[in-house]
Amino acid sequence: AAVGGLLGNGSSGGDEEGEKGAEAAAATGRDKLEGTGPTEDDTIHLKRRVGLLSGVALIVGTMIGSGIFVSPSGLLERTGSIGMSFVVWMACGLLSLLGALAYAELGTMNTSSGAEYAYFMDAFGAPPAFLFSWASTLVLKPSQMAIICLSFGKYAVEAFVIECEPPEIVVKMVALLAMVVILYINCYSVNLATSVQNIFTAAKLVAVAVVISGGIYKMFEGNTQHLQVPFKGTKNSFGNIATAFYTGLWAYDGWNNLNYVTEEIKNPSRNLPRSIIIGIPLVTVCYALINVSYLTVMSPLEMMTSEAVAVTFGNRVLGIMAWLMPLSVTISTFGAANGTLFAAGRLCFAASREGHLMDILSYVHIKRYTPVPGLIFQTLIAGAMVMYGTIDSLIDFFSFTAWIFYGGCMVALILMRYTKPNYPRPYKVPIIIPSFVLVISIYLIIAPIMDNPTIEYLYAALFILGGMLFYVPFVHYQVKTPFMDGLTVFLQMVFEVAPTSTILE
Ligand code: ARG
Repeated sequence: AAVGGLLGNGSSGGDEEGEKGAEAAAATGRDKLEGTGPTEDDTIHLKRRVGLLSGVALIVGTMIGSGIFVSPSGLLERTGSIGMSFVVWMACGLLSLLGALAYAELGTMNTSSGAEYAYFMDAFGAPPAFLFSWASTLVLKPSQMAIICLSFGKYAVEAFVIECEPPEIVVKMVALLAMVVILYINCYSVNLATSVQNIFTAAKLVAVAVVISGGIYKMFEGNTQHLQVPFKGTKNSFGNIATAFYTGLWAYDGWNNLNYVTEEIKNPSRNLPRSIIIGIPLVTVCYALINVSYLTVMSPLEMMTSEAVAVTFGNRVLGIMAWLMPLSVTISTFGAANGTLFAAGRLCFAASREGHLMDILSYVHIKRYTPVPGLIFQTLIAGAMVMYGTIDSLIDFFSFTAWIFYGGCMVALILMRYTKPNYPRPYKVPIIIPSFVLVISIYLIIAPIMDNPTIEYLYAALFILGGMLFYVPFVHYQVKTPFMDGLTVFLQMVFEVAPTSTILE
């Protein structure tokens, strides 16, 4: 089990392991798709060990991350009123729930852990599947990493500057520093990376519980003055609402996480939809309560201008325990960033084994068995994003790209009802659900561009199209450049890496 060594216990997709298990399994799943790369013996036979409870934990664990600590301010700014922002928060929860239910049909039809990649392959063939793989390694994963590290930076710095705006450059430096530490952890050992994950996941539950209980306490004290005229100031523009959705949907992202482990779910046609129906509303309720909690101690204006809402909340509610807030949020975001890089490195590894990226990215360290080149590659892209982007612009960039592919999956579902009518569908959603999600995704993709065409969307679109330019010569025709071989050998020596087939026997 070559890949087994590489993935360590990350491939278990177990209870609290959060996304890394899931997405790592996605990586291994891909290997099986086309039978390229590893031989039969290399495939790990995944055990079905995710039951209902672990399913719910996997969804909740991935969804709650940095977003709920950074998005409320941005969402309020984009909607203009607390009433409207609340509506958007709830609508994002509903959209994620419906999207996930549609995904449950796809996931039980095609149980490959490659998720989107596999559905695109079934419905549209290789080029669109490649584009997904390309966009997720070059855009989606690194931007997740960048956003989460920037959130880490904000909270880490905010802990030391009492209720004033921390200098942006300091936040960026701290974000970059965190990235380097996380890169080191992930290159150093699989076990270290997974233990960091397990310990750090608990922190976010502490943060969420403290905010909710503090808020309930403040409510009982009668602090409801900011909740009185909820819709005052609402901005109704077409594009503003869509970008408000981008901000909210970032906090909910990860709703499709169970689809990366469908092979490991016990009785998936029952447990997959059930975990979704329990997990996503649970997160939605938490987010609603957290938003109300924030408003029990600060006015909408204060919330909009607060750089780190949870810190402001802690300062006003927790007294001498105020340090608990920045500490738990920084630990939680650090853990989320670690999990993201873990998954990103494996995704890169799997994509290059399929021949979708440079060969070197599929090599692993000869002694540590970690995918060092993939990890470095992902960190470099994410680092550039941190330097040149801001949390808000990166969230827009991420959500725009992600929803192109989520919408694509809805098309895949609807199309396959016609092109593959006889595929077994142990769980079938009413067709109205994917159709509705599709319409909303089209709105989400088009409205922000029409309203205010900013550079992020152009970059994202160019990236995706660039994928096609790469695909034709290098993936389809497998053109080899002599220069690449030299570079591969050089990098191999620098990083002490080799193809898995040569070192893991
Ligand atoms: N919702 C998470 C957050 O608020 C981000 C999840 C990123 N997506 C993922 N598949 N890991 O931080």
